[in-house]
Formats: sequence, C-alpha cells, structure tokens
Amino acid sequence: MSSRISYDLSGAVAIITGAGRGIGKAIALSLAAAQASVVVASRNGPDLDAVTAEIREAGGKAVPVVADLTSSEQIEHLVEVTVGECGRIDILVNNASTSHMAPLLEFSQKGWDRIFDTNCRGAFLLSRAAARKMIDQGGGKIINVTTVGAERGSMGMAAYNASKAALKMLTMCMAVEWAPYGINVNAVGPGLTRTEFSRPIWDHAERASRYLRAVPKGRVAEPEEIVGAVLFLASDASNFITGQSIYVDGGFLAS
Ligand SMILES: NC(=O)c1ccc[n+]([C@@H]2O[C@H](COP(=O)([O-])OP(=O)(O)OC[C@H]3O[C@@H](n4cnc5c(N)ncnc54)[C@H](OP(=O)(O)O)[C@@H]3O)[C@@H](O)[C@H]2O)c1
Repeated sequence: MSSRISYDLSGAVAIITGAGRGIGKAIALSLAAAQASVVVASRNGPDLDAVTAEIREAGGKAVPVVADLTSSEQIEHLVEVTVGECGRIDILVNNASTSHMAPLLEFSQKGWDRIFDTNCRGAFLLSRAAARKMIDQGGGKIINVTTVGAERGSMGMAAYNASKAALKMLTMCMAVEWAPYGINVNAVGPGLTRTEFSRPIWDHAERASRYLRAVPKGRVAEPEEIVGAVLFLASDASNFITGQSIYVDGGFLAS
C-alpha cells in the first residue's frame, strides 16, 4: 500500500443517484473532477443532460441514465447501462431522496410508502445490484446520503427521518456483510443545506432561525460543502473505514 493519501479516482466508475440537481449534482461534478467516470441518474432527463454537458465541457466523462428508484426494473436497467457503457462499478452514491412535511396523525400510507420506497428500498436494491458487480471486481465503495434527522426527532418529518435512520442501519449491515468482499459502505449525513429540497425550511424565516439557533456554525450549508466527505469515502484515503456515518452539519449534532 502506498504511504501517500490519494483522492484521485482515475479509472473508477461511479453511479450517483439524484444527480440532476442539489447535493447529488455537486457530488457528480466533484467525482468527475477527481477523474472518475460518472453515471448520473434521476427521473428528469433534461436535468441529467445539463449536468452531463457541464461535466463533459470540463473534460470529464459522464453518462446520463433516467431511472426511477421506486422501480426495481429501472434500477436493474441503471446497473446494466453502467456496466454496458463503462464496464464496471467502483463507487455508488445513494443520494436520491424524497420527503414531504406532514404531522404523523395526518400522514397517509401512500406518502409513507413513497418515502420508504425511494429513500430506503431503492438504496437497498441498487446497492445489492451494484455489490454483485463489485464482488466480481474485488471490491468497491458505497456511500449513502442520510441526514442529521436520522439521529433526532423533528416535527412533520417522521417518515423521512425514519427512512434515513433505516438507511443508516442498512449502511452498517451492508458494511458488516460485504467487508469480506472488499466493499466499504459508509454514510454522509448533511445538516440543512441550501437546495430546493429544503427550501421550505431555510427560506422560511421562523423555521430557519429556530434551526440555526442549534447550529454552532450559525448558517446553512452550501451543496458543495457536503462533497468533501463523499470524496473522502469514495477514495483510497478511507480504505479502512466502513459502517460509519459522517455528519456534515456545522456542529448541529454536537450541540
Ligand atoms: N438539502 C438538505 O437540507 C438536506 C439535509 C439533509 C439531508 N439531505 C439529503 O441529501 C440528499 C440530496 O438532497 P438535495 O437537497 O440535493 O435534494 P433535491 O435537490 O430535491 O434532489 C433530490 C434528487 O433526488 C432525485 N429523486 C427523487 N426521487 C427520485 C426517484 N424516485 N428516483 C430517482 N431519483 C429521484 C431528484 O430527481 P428527480 O425528482 O428529477 O427524479 C433529485 O435529483 C438527499 O438524500 C437528502 O435526503 C438534504
């Protein structure tokens, strides 16, 4: 093993879900800048085409694949296209997610299922499909994007927080089961980050100030600030780390 720490991802192939906008887009741009070939996935073709064009203009390699993670067929298709176009899968970032705010007493079963199917079952099915390929190759890295809400209760976010707490535990179980195959599985949990997803919080004066009172850094994160932890966990610099969650939250969970 080299004694020099490297974040270079040359030759690696990475799938990033939810890469059409927000944090997923920032992750895709960063992994591509680190020389990985990136497969960008979401349900929105024009979003993916724009991210692909941006990466290619910067000299990187990107392949857009439209896939709905609530569909097991579309998840299989995503993996088939990745292997067909790029030949391998070294890194999987399960970043795509959905939520809506509602009190538990009014939460519908349909809404609950949609959140769990996307955030938890989708990540499981895609990780399983990718891990089968990674095992053939001798290893890989899986990074699940969770949230500080996996550790704390909050009003109106029960299904989302529970789905992410389940994803955190899935991260630990996958890490345990797949370590013998050379697959590292970790999670990155952002605090409040300035994307469309969380606009109802950071763009709402009262909700934002209530949250920021609990953040030692005293501000919302930008999507690009979540990327460093993902890049670290995708790279050789983290080869002995598995089953962990890194929270990128300006100190929220520490306070
Ligand atoms: N922003 C925050 O404050 C914050 C805080 C903590 C954690 N996080 C986590 O960070 C990650 C990224 O969030 P973000 O803020 O960047 O959200 P975002 O801007 O809403 O992006 C979410 C992405 O997921 C995709 N997606 C949603 N449902 C999908 C489905 N069924 N199939 C495929 N793709 C789907 C969306 O694309 P389409 O809708 O076009 O398919 C979009 O590209 C999520 O895991 C989120 O839970 C965010």
